[in-house]
Amino acid sequence: MTPALPDPRNADILVHVGGQLLPRDQAKVSVFDSSVQGGDAVWEGLRVYDGRIAELEAHLDRLLDSAKAMAFEGVPARSQVEKALCETLEANGMFDGAHVRLTLTRGEKVTSGMNPRLNQSGCCLIVLAEWKAPVYPGAGIRLITSAIRRNSPQCVDSKIHHNNLINNILAAIEANVAGVDSALMLDVAGFVSETNDTNVFLAKKGILYTPHADSCLPGITRAMVIKLAREDGATVVEKNLSLTEVYSADEMFTTGTMGELTPVLEVDGRRIGEQAGALTVRMQALHGNWVRKNGTPIKSLKQ
Ligand SMILES: Cc1ncc(COP(=O)(O)O)c(C=O)c1O
Repeated sequence: MTPALPDPRNADILVHVGGQLLPRDQAKVSVFDSSVQGGDAVWEGLRVYDGRIAELEAHLDRLLDSAKAMAFEGVPARSQVEKALCETLEANGMFDGAHVRLTLTRGEKVTSGMNPRLNQSGCCLIVLAEWKAPVYPGAGIRLITSAIRRNSPQCVDSKIHHNNLINNILAAIEANVAGVDSALMLDVAGFVSETNDTNVFLAKKGILYTPHADSCLPGITRAMVIKLAREDGATVVEKNLSLTEVYSADEMFTTGTMGELTPVLEVDGRRIGEQAGALTVRMQALHGNWVRKNGTPIKSLKQ
């Protein structure tokens, strides 16, 4: 039996893979692709609002910087990625309420194995656009703290936005088993890093706090929230945060392209709030307003 799709409109989407726009059931990578062989790929999640892609420049900078850090060869030019994005969104008629998973793999290998020397055909670009509402319930989420630590730069630098997501996936499994929405991850020193798929903010006595971007992904929504909050006159402090500061926060919210800004109501059984706090609601409004007005128009990406 075919499982039901979260959004049935995604049954007939076209996906850009390796230079071709293909129906969903034909959109595939080779078994020799580096993403299959070793999770050897980099990616971005993008959101489309009112005919615009939010923060496209920042996402493409991070994708291309990640590919460079991973020494990918045969990386498509930025203009080629933009063209593939535009073609995919136009072909699917997606100009609002869509999310794009943009993946660049190291490409196909000549034989199975780990070594990038086996890659001789250049990268493979995948543009997977789907109809997708923010993934977390707007009313708020519950977290547990995971026993799995988020990578530090001593291990795998979290500034590379790569597809080797096992440590985040193990944390997500712990959250599933505990019956909550997501898992808070600590860094190797025991300070709060991020959740398995979002960055985190605390509010205490009117001040916003977020962890340094040392062991977490330097999220694009995180950077946007810091900028918008400061422009709005709020104080934002980047510092090491311990779990005690989480449990005693007045408010907490997560940030990410997929889920936007989501209130956190409970962590490890400690109640943070009964509903989204005033600062969270204010930041949600500023973020919502910004992304709807300031993205890159899809039509401007036509070459
Ligand atoms: C581990 C992790 N943290 C945070 C984020 C949020 O980043 P952004 O705001 O750039 O979407 C993501 C998104 O991919 C992520 O995978």
